[in-house]
Amino acid sequence: MTNHFPKGFLWGGAVAANQYEGAWQEAGKGESTSDHMTGGTVDTPRRFTKTLIPGEYYPSQLASDGYHHIEEDIKLMAGMGFSVYRLSIAWTRIFPNGDDAEPNLAGLDYYRHVFELCHQYHIEPLVTISHYEMPYHLTEAYGGWENRQVIGFYEKYANTLFSEYKGLVKYWLTFNEINAGFFLGGYVSLGLPIADQAAAFAPQTDDDSIQHALLALHNQFVASARAVQIGHKIDPANQIGCMIAGQVKYPLTPDPKDVLLAQRSNELINFYCGDVQVRGAYPAFAKRYWDEHDVKLEISDADAADLKAGCVDFYSFSYYSSSVETADPTKQRVDQNMSAGVKNPYLKYSDWGWATDPDGLRWYLNELNSRYQIPLMVVENGLGAFDKLTDSDKVYDDYRISYLSEHIDAMAGAIKDGVNLIGYTSWGWIDLVSAGTGQMAKRYGFVYVDRNDDQVGDFRRIPKKSYYWYKRVIATNGENT
Ligand code: BG6
Repeated sequence: MTNHFPKGFLWGGAVAANQYEGAWQEAGKGESTSDHMTGGTVDTPRRFTKTLIPGEYYPSQLASDGYHHIEEDIKLMAGMGFSVYRLSIAWTRIFPNGDDAEPNLAGLDYYRHVFELCHQYHIEPLVTISHYEMPYHLTEAYGGWENRQVIGFYEKYANTLFSEYKGLVKYWLTFNEINAGFFLGGYVSLGLPIADQAAAFAPQTDDDSIQHALLALHNQFVASARAVQIGHKIDPANQIGCMIAGQVKYPLTPDPKDVLLAQRSNELINFYCGDVQVRGAYPAFAKRYWDEHDVKLEISDADAADLKAGCVDFYSFSYYSSSVETADPTKQRVDQNMSAGVKNPYLKYSDWGWATDPDGLRWYLNELNSRYQIPLMVVENGLGAFDKLTDSDKVYDDYRISYLSEHIDAMAGAIKDGVNLIGYTSWGWIDLVSAGTGQMAKRYGFVYVDRNDDQVGDFRRIPKKSYYWYKRVIATNGENT
């Protein structure tokens, strides 16, 4: 069957500054929270270290060295025919400490150069203002997002970006996977302080940590809503979206208890944040959840007015995998972030334990369409896998091609269902540091980066088989997967 994507559909790929750029101390950049995270593996959690320990490996610091390869990388994207490039701005390149009086001009110039290059190649930038990092100083000195002063710092940062890049950037996302506060823990997503050497990703489990996280998340909602208002004021052409980690939860059985649990889980993980950012108010079930966990949020009239006035223009999300809920306590749970729940007997799992489920993407797109009726964009989707570089510099990543083609077909199916989907940026269009494990070995790219977890390799770029495949997909506007 042939796929039909609308004319002008945006095709491209995504990265985040802290996983791709490296150059962590260059041109006045300050220390990010991500610069304090060590490497890890699927079984060994990444740790946070308060001071930077000599000889310890902090993979974000050099990452894929994208900062120094940007000209070459944009040419590679253009070679595939990208019409959109999702990247994030490192807050610390613009405001190294977060509370600086003036922005760092070298940082502003760097991204201006990136955006100008994108336009030279007819690529529309899609900019995430905050992707899993913030100036470390804001964590240390202010306690991260739980402190309302941080709203003001973010507002100033966003204002600077909207003003500086007016006319160069039209598509913006305020926070990456804003719902991650629920399942990845406070440090990475909310900048909350944690103990030295603690696991950097650690979900909130007790009521006290849930209270801290939801308060910090509320402050992010207010910051996002204010950024939307500022962005619209500076340039009414700006299209500003939310970004949610799309996590599809199925009931294990038709036992109504499993069904209810899956519904609750979908609501909490996906719609708690989506409803606030799209509809401008907390959903009804939020109060039930607060009561269950003894959470107290004081939502002032001014905050409520900001949330209402700062609704997003489109809804974007990541989608990798689905998972299963059951009320049966005897069933064993896996708690790997995207696949938290019990194993799905119908699906195949990656080497990192993530289930491949393209039908889940179609289901989720339809759910979103019915709930929100605004344009949707898939801004992350991909397969993290071990790749082998042959002696003749080839990577035959047919497994990645099959994962991506199934998901593109699922999007075409959803469009046929009536979903208003406007774009797709696959995750890690080029190999980069895994957020969850800090590994280079978990590769997502169409382009191989010669660098491994022993810190060996010269960052050379090598297009994989999937590079030529994706080029064909884009050239046929998704008809030919
Ligand atoms: C998303 C994040 O959660 O998943 C990305 O927005 C991340 O930053 C991606 O890289 C894939 O996860 P991982 O752990 O495989 O890098």
